[in-house]
Amino acid sequence: MSEKTLIAVWGSPNSGKTTTTIKLAQAFAAQKQNVLVICCDSLCPSVSTIAPQGAAGHSSLGELLSLPTLSQEDLLRYALPLDVSPRIALLGYKKGDTTFTYAAYNRDRVVDLLTLARHLADVVLVDCASFLSADPLSTVALELADHVFRLHSCDLKSLMFYASYLPLVSDARFRRASVLPVLSNVKLEQDSREYSQVFGGIQVTLPHVPQLEQQAAAARLLDDCTGKDAVAYQKALQQLLSQLQSPKPKATPIPPATSSTSFRNIASLLQRVWPKRRGGKK
Ligand SMILES: Nc1ncnc2c1ncn2[C@@H]1O[C@H](COP(=O)(O)OP(=O)(O)O)[C@@H](O)[C@H]1O
Ligand SMILES: [Mg+2]
Repeated sequence: MSEKTLIAVWGSPNSGKTTTTIKLAQAFAAQKQNVLVICCDSLCPSVSTIAPQGAAGHSSLGELLSLPTLSQEDLLRYALPLDVSPRIALLGYKKGDTTFTYAAYNRDRVVDLLTLARHLADVVLVDCASFLSADPLSTVALELADHVFRLHSCDLKSLMFYASYLPLVSDARFRRASVLPVLSNVKLEQDSREYSQVFGGIQVTLPHVPQLEQQAAAARLLDDCTGKDAVAYQKALQQLLSQLQSPKPKATPIPPATSSTSFRNIASLLQRVWPKRRGGKK
């Protein structure tokens, strides 16, 4: 992996973008890399839930994006360093922010922000918002990233999300990155094989780990993930990291959501699901 890597973590709502981003940040930090995590979600600002102690007085990413000019010093001033993980710093919206709190920013501002971020950190991880139409920061991160981890969950909502949103990222400007589709938060009882087929190109599966769910619920995502349950998860994370170390793969073509194959698969999956539900109502 080259230095100064920009990785965008994107996916359907609730697919595990924030959880995965933080666990990736910890894995990079363990390799002695300095990591800047940019949390784009302005709908449910996440910094306070990741680092509740430090977040009380932290400055908002929204304010940074609306400064008249941007410099590396500004980024350093707005980034929240973590006591527990000195190699990781967070940039994100603060508790109480809404999309109306700050002035609108444009594409050039995001390009500046991401360029400066790449100069500051060894790895920049962007925890993207699912809804690109409402978030220029996530959209431009997907354009400029070296790698995109695209998170899918094993549920119909995720299928429907991608049916709607994949066409938005099928444009040539999104082809710079290598895209690694990942099945995320997969429970034992879920039919991951079927969903892998439907989504296509799944290379890594991140298993559901109850400990991670508890960490997220208790605002302790920065705790280590240990124990038997976590072994498979850590292995999958390492698999993700190893994809970055291999020579940069050719960008994975994004299957057009309107292709007959993907819709045939989705339709057959829906057919499999609905009869069961109807049966349940009898
Ligand atoms: N691998 C996992 N194991 C257990 N729970 C997970 C895992 N990944 C995500 N979750 C849980 O799923 C929920 C959504 O995760 P989150 O990272 O907030 O998603 P997103 O950022 O995509 O909205 C959280 O409750 C989180 O704890
Ligand atoms: Mg999130």
